[in-house]
Amino acid sequence: MEGECIVFANHKGGTGKTTSCVNVAGELARNNRKVLVVDLDPQGNATSALGLGDEEIDACMYDVLLSGCTSNKKTILEDVILTTEVKNLDTAPATLDLSGILTQIHKADNPFAVLRNSIDGIMGFYDFVLVDTPPSYGYFLINSVYAADRIIIPLDTGAFTLESIRDFTTLLGDIKDELSSDIDVHAVTLTMLHDSLFYRFSRLLSNFTSSHRHPLLDVKEKVQVFLSINKVFSENLHVIPYSPEIYKAQSAGLPLCYFNPGHEINNISEEISSGLLEETG
Ligand SMILES: Nc1ncnc2c1ncn2[C@@H]1O[C@H](COP(=O)(O)OP(=O)(O)OP(=O)(O)O)[C@@H](O)[C@H]1O
Ligand SMILES: [Mg+2]
Repeated sequence: MEGECIVFANHKGGTGKTTSCVNVAGELARNNRKVLVVDLDPQGNATSALGLGDEEIDACMYDVLLSGCTSNKKTILEDVILTTEVKNLDTAPATLDLSGILTQIHKADNPFAVLRNSIDGIMGFYDFVLVDTPPSYGYFLINSVYAADRIIIPLDTGAFTLESIRDFTTLLGDIKDELSSDIDVHAVTLTMLHDSLFYRFSRLLSNFTSSHRHPLLDVKEKVQVFLSINKVFSENLHVIPYSPEIYKAQSAGLPLCYFNPGHEINNISEEISSGLLEETG
């Protein structure tokens, strides 16, 4: 087994990165794939959404990356991995401590490859390693892109979403050039964080695309046009509706497909995981 590393990234905050990561992880695990969620965000939201609190965590991704920076193999990834309530689903947790790595990472021989080197040793034990990233431009994002086999970009439907798509595309292009990486975007999720903003978002999109000449295009199609204008592969665009069940599942520390198996959002997590499974065979 040689696992695939899937990174959920967007420098913009609150776009659904953690939610998509945890729900897709749950769906892959439900399909009997061995999955590890690496929490690379000092906010530790993926860790909490998988039901783990500070009291269960002795060491976290900070310790792993610090060891990677100093070539002192005191803590390797295996040492921090915790099981979750979900069969086949483990996590390498994060706490606020992880923010401290930003003052240490320059000590590494290659500060961009610390995550990749840290996960290398466990790729043989998992089918998928899903990385939840923080909203940031810096080392966390660059390390994640360098480690990724595929990237999923979660978007929201806010007033600044369209700018963020353009900025993220530019950012990704710069990182790829710098790292000589040919990594591409595998899928994009569009989360309707506020149901009531749907109509406004649709109008905003019309101003930015030529789709106002095609009034029958729905929001999904308009986003696809916008993504293709910005040269983002947009075939795998998944629209995720607003639902308070997300909040409840996250508070219960479970992926949605385990908290509420009949919920419609699970169909979308299933579509995304089927896409990942198809490509890995
Ligand atoms: N489909 C949904 N319906 C309702 N609420 C949602 C949905 N998806 C995500 N949320 C909520 O929206 C908020 C932002 O989602 P999430 O934390 O996944 O974003 P994020 O991109 O990981 O944020 P950050 O950039 O801070 O890491 C959270 O409070 C989450 O519970
Ligand atoms: Mg998050």
